[in-house]
Amino acid sequence: MRLRKIPIDFLWEGLELSGDIYNDRGSVLLLKRGEVLTQDRLDKLSKFERGGYITTSEETYQEILNSGKAPRAALQRVYEEAIGYTALKNDVDSIFSVTRNASEINMEATETVTKDIFTKIKVLDFPKIFQCIDAPREMDENLQRHSLNVAFTNGVIGQWLKLPEPVIKKLVCAGLVHDIGKTKIPEEILNAPRRLTEEEFEIIKAHPVYSYELLWDNVDEDIRLAARHHHERLDGKGYPDQIAGDEISLLARITAISDVYDAMISQRSYKESLIPFDVLEKFKKGEFPGLDERLVDLFVKNMVENYRDVKVQMSDGRIGVVRYIPPNDLNHPIINCNHDVSQTDDKWYCVCIANQTGK
Ligand SMILES: [Fe+2]
Repeated sequence: MRLRKIPIDFLWEGLELSGDIYNDRGSVLLLKRGEVLTQDRLDKLSKFERGGYITTSEETYQEILNSGKAPRAALQRVYEEAIGYTALKNDVDSIFSVTRNASEINMEATETVTKDIFTKIKVLDFPKIFQCIDAPREMDENLQRHSLNVAFTNGVIGQWLKLPEPVIKKLVCAGLVHDIGKTKIPEEILNAPRRLTEEEFEIIKAHPVYSYELLWDNVDEDIRLAARHHHERLDGKGYPDQIAGDEISLLARITAISDVYDAMISQRSYKESLIPFDVLEKFKKGEFPGLDERLVDLFVKNMVENYRDVKVQMSDGRIGVVRYIPPNDLNHPIINCNHDVSQTDDKWYCVCIANQTGK
């Protein structure tokens, strides 16, 4: 019998087992079919299986996944492993730590990750990518997740714009390295659990120039400039060079949008995270001045189209399907919670927190 690995934190008190449970390797029978999990049994399982996994039959595995009772964070972890996001995040993490320690970017590794992301954008559909981007994250993961997410979002926007493949690859690469200059900013400023002082903010504002300098002049100049100019704004009120309008390249304009989207989705020390629909409404209302309006419109329009019929998890734990997003009220989507989501498609399809009342 084929056994499937499953994290112990997917199990819950009161679960009646429909199949036997074995240890991580499938070699020792731990609990028999029909037994009911008590807290005491769960504690014993966690102690016995220090790796945090047990194994069970395919049927029991599916039943547990489809119950909707497994904690969201654990589901997210398994999901990210399955589609390869975790591996990419680890690669980005190592690129950033090498840069932090050696003040040099491993361009070979960066190009490999760029190619991997490019391939994934072509084969994975929108909800699968945005389930990772929209996921809640730990503060210490912020920089690598952000870089990876901006790379993915840049690539997706490049596809929506029907840009040639080499340009989309540059966009992905620019997303990966746009904030790499932050490795030169002291951690106590970067991760300060409070609003920054004016002097500290000035220090942070140097990071696009650091990114540009860390990308040596043998790196494509379009990528270097996208990194340098991702905080520039069309009205000339950005930084570091305060350039305006056509002086800002298409790659930098796109990176600016992906950067703002991901920054809004993520929790920072000084602000709570927003749900995607809130961020899209802010984009639509023009709450981020100086972005390229034409690109913002395209971004919002495509995001809205792609969120239709996607599974979401509400803040009260219920799972529903986005049925309609009112064009003039993007942050109040109509979500159908009566729909039997387990019957329709892949369990792992997009789950993101929505705080709306379902119908
Ligand atoms: Fe930045």
